[in-house]
Amino acid sequence: MDRMEVIERLNGIDLPGHLHTPMSLQLAQNFEFKEGDVLIVTYPKSGTTWMQEILTLIYSIGDDEIAKTVPNWTRTPWLEHTYFKDIITEDDGPRIITTHLRSEVLLPQLRNSKAKVIYVARNPKDVAVSFYFFHKMAKFLPDPESFQNFLKQFLQGKVCYGSWFEHVKSWYNCRQSLDFFYYITYEDMQKDLRGCIKKLCKFLGSPMYSKEVDRVEKHCKFSNMSQNKMVNYMLIPCEILDHTQGKFMRKGVVGDWKQHFTEEQNVMFDKIFQEKMSDCDLQFVWDM
Ligand code: A3P
Repeated sequence: MDRMEVIERLNGIDLPGHLHTPMSLQLAQNFEFKEGDVLIVTYPKSGTTWMQEILTLIYSIGDDEIAKTVPNWTRTPWLEHTYFKDIITEDDGPRIITTHLRSEVLLPQLRNSKAKVIYVARNPKDVAVSFYFFHKMAKFLPDPESFQNFLKQFLQGKVCYGSWFEHVKSWYNCRQSLDFFYYITYEDMQKDLRGCIKKLCKFLGSPMYSKEVDRVEKHCKFSNMSQNKMVNYMLIPCEILDHTQGKFMRKGVVGDWKQHFTEEQNVMFDKIFQEKMSDCDLQFVWDM
């Protein structure tokens, strides 16, 4: 799909209307990145909140005061929400900005900037399960009905933000055209959080002493983050996120899909995955 097609789809079906209006998309399309900006890019449910927290802590050199007192949507605001426009533009930097938008929308501006892009991917079976449970809580998203129904829509790309396959591939292909692009997976972070933090520090040009890395690592563990009201989304009222239906910080593991997929669903998923990813050399970890 070219840029205009992606934008048309976003305006039509791929974005939840109350958060993303044609105007907010227009702002994102014309957004001017600056040197020093860091853009976190993810498909939903791939570890966005985790990366937001890691970067907050890296930039505060392990001091968790900001992370414990300022909500993550204020310190790492969303590019595509009009609501955050002023927060982003008034920030002196370094700005940590978050987006789920496709590369086709942002590549023209990113190419001409010195902004750094961090793309976080997660194995799509766990993404589908996490996204399904999120749909059950999120009042601004359609009722997923059954998991079977949701999985079918997910595989067809008929969910908010469109096809997982196209999203991951479109951004991964940017590694050649962007000077500062870092690809990382949720599973990498699960396997070796400390190693990932150190590599991110290097990419960002923000060296840290071992004791500071200790603090970032400790703060960003699931058990800690799930208790932090500034990131666990418990501050969001029930009319928007129905907390009686589940938790935003749900399980935080690799391989939970095995508890939810039937054998038949798994076979179907693998077949579609192989077809859609045949032109891409990315490998995913499905279990740990
Ligand atoms: P689950 O629903 O599988 O538990 P996003 O922030 O992109 O919306 O992704 C949310 C997913 O990341 C949820 O997955 C959430 O539990 C998980 N997550 C958030 N913080 C985490 C952490 N510190 N460690 C592991 N998983 C985390």
